[in-house]
Amino acid sequence: MKKGMMATLIFILMFALVGCGSSTEKTATTEKKITVVTDAAFAPFEYMDKGEIVGFDVDLLKAVMKEAGLAYELKNIGWDPLFAAIQGKTADMAVSGITINDDRKQTYDFSIPYFESTHMILVKEGSSIKSAKDLQGKVVGVQNGTTGQEAVEKILGKENQNIKKFENTVVAIMDLLNGGVEAVVTDNAVANEYVKNNPDAKIVAFEDPEHFESEFYGFMFPKGSELKQKVDEALKKVIENGTYTEIYKKWFGTEPNIESLQQ
Ligand code: ARG
Repeated sequence: MKKGMMATLIFILMFALVGCGSSTEKTATTEKKITVVTDAAFAPFEYMDKGEIVGFDVDLLKAVMKEAGLAYELKNIGWDPLFAAIQGKTADMAVSGITINDDRKQTYDFSIPYFESTHMILVKEGSSIKSAKDLQGKVVGVQNGTTGQEAVEKILGKENQNIKKFENTVVAIMDLLNGGVEAVVTDNAVANEYVKNNPDAKIVAFEDPEHFESEFYGFMFPKGSELKQKVDEALKKVIENGTYTEIYKKWFGTEPNIESLQQ
């Protein structure tokens, strides 16, 4: 191809691109996709299945965003990066079984609650650990930066070197299987899901209501986000119109206790 022709072609191409950009600008801003981030290693809330992010949270997000009429993209970026992304506003929203608590509320905004949770202790079958008190003197695994870590710190002390912090809950449970830790403390639905799906792993899960309080999950936003109100309204509708119950039954096989969310 001759140089002159090439230059003309490039010129035309640039012109087309610039023209295209300006004509779609309006629709592009009104239909801007919302970036939602997650840590997809927390079944049944969010996990990877054949290259796709699936789970209770993923279905609920889909229903809520449909109700709100919002286009979005869900990205699996991991737990610690998720908080950084919301704080730095490189993401608009996080959905990840995130517990609403006073500490986080200072830095982030949360939706209305959508799930009630508590903590459970996972141990190998036949373990001498039968209650939260028995965790004393034992090496205990938690996912770093979770309310599970906080719960264990309350029992063992904040600086306790026996608390082993993992990047995600899957690797914490793997370490339990390998004997690196003697117990893992995580959210009850996640603990139950692991036991149910891995009958051969010989892992058992139990609660300790005396030491573990009930907490609630919410969608998380940067502080002052305008999205919160839209998402709250849509989430309310999805809870009221039965869609929430359908999704809940699909993942947990039982009826949800909607009143506990509305208290
Ligand atoms: N609910 C706990 C918390 O907010 C654990 C959530 C972990 N979620 C996850 N996708 N890894 O601290």
